[in-house]
Amino acid sequence: MKNFKNQIDFFLRQYLGFSRKNYSEKNESKEGLFAQQKALEREQYLLEKFGLETLKSNSTRQNYLENLYTVDLLERFFELEFRDNLTVLDIGCKNWCYARGEYFFFKRYCKNLILDGIEIDSNRLYTNFYNRREVAKFHIKDLKGAKYISKDFLRHDRRYNYIMWFLPFIIKEPMQKWGLPDKYFQPEKMLSHAYELLNSGGNIFVVNQGLTEYNVQKGLCQKLNIPFILLGEVKSEFLNYEIPMFAMVLNKN
Ligand SMILES: C[S@@+](CC[C@H](N)C(=O)[O-])C[C@H]1O[C@@H](n2cnc3c(N)ncnc32)[C@H](O)[C@@H]1O
Repeated sequence: MKNFKNQIDFFLRQYLGFSRKNYSEKNESKEGLFAQQKALEREQYLLEKFGLETLKSNSTRQNYLENLYTVDLLERFFELEFRDNLTVLDIGCKNWCYARGEYFFFKRYCKNLILDGIEIDSNRLYTNFYNRREVAKFHIKDLKGAKYISKDFLRHDRRYNYIMWFLPFIIKEPMQKWGLPDKYFQPEKMLSHAYELLNSGGNIFVVNQGLTEYNVQKGLCQKLNIPFILLGEVKSEFLNYEIPMFAMVLNKN
C-alpha cells in the first residue's frame, strides 16, 4: 500500500514539477552559536584553513552548522594532495544545503573543481512550495563548477576522483518512509555503479545512520569485493544527531 502511494506521488512530482522560483535565505548573526570552547576553536581552525568567511557571513545559523559539520568530517578523514583538476560527486544530495561545505573543502586542494550533486527526487516540494532543486540552486549559486543534476544516479556515467555519499538508502523501510517507490531500492547496484565511476586512487566517503545500516553497508562492500576502511562512529562539535552516525572510506587502487 505504501509503495502504491509512493509510486503515484513520485510520478506526479516528476510529471508536474511545480515549484516557486528564486528561493533565498537571509543571513543570520552567528553570535553565541557555540558555548563550548572546543567548538569555537575548531570553528576558527576550519574558517582559516578553508576560507569560510563568506559562508559565515552569508548563511542562516542552521545552514552554517550543516556546512561546518560537512567540512569538519571531511577535514578529519581526508588528506589530499594539491592538483590542477578534481572531480567530486555527491550522491542523493537532496536540496544540497551542505554543498558549500563540500565545495570549500575540495577547492582548497585544486585549481579547478567540478562538484556535481545528483538527486532523483529533485521535484519534491517543501511546505513553502519551493522544491529541492530550487533550494539547491540557491545553495550553489556562487560556486563556480558546481552543478545540481536531477537524475537517477544509475543513469549517470561521469567519472570522479571522490564520491560523497551521506545517508544512502541501504535498508528498504527508511526509503519507503522518505517517499521513493520500491523499484528504486537497489543498494547493491548503486554501490557497484558508484565504484565503477570512481577513478583509480579515488575514494568514496559513506556516512550511515545507525549501526544496523553501517553493518549492512559493510556487508555490501564485502560482497562486492570493495576495499574499505571503517571509521566508526563520527561525531562533530557542530551538529548532534539523535541516531549515531558511522562512516567508512572505500578505496580504489
Ligand atoms: C536519506 S537521503 C540523504 C540526503 C542527503 N544526502 C543528506 O545527507 O541530507 C537519501 C537521498 O538519496 C536520494 N536518492 C535515492 N536513490 C537515488 C538515485 N538512484 N539517484 C539519485 N538520488 C537518489 C533520495 O531521493 C534522497 O534525497
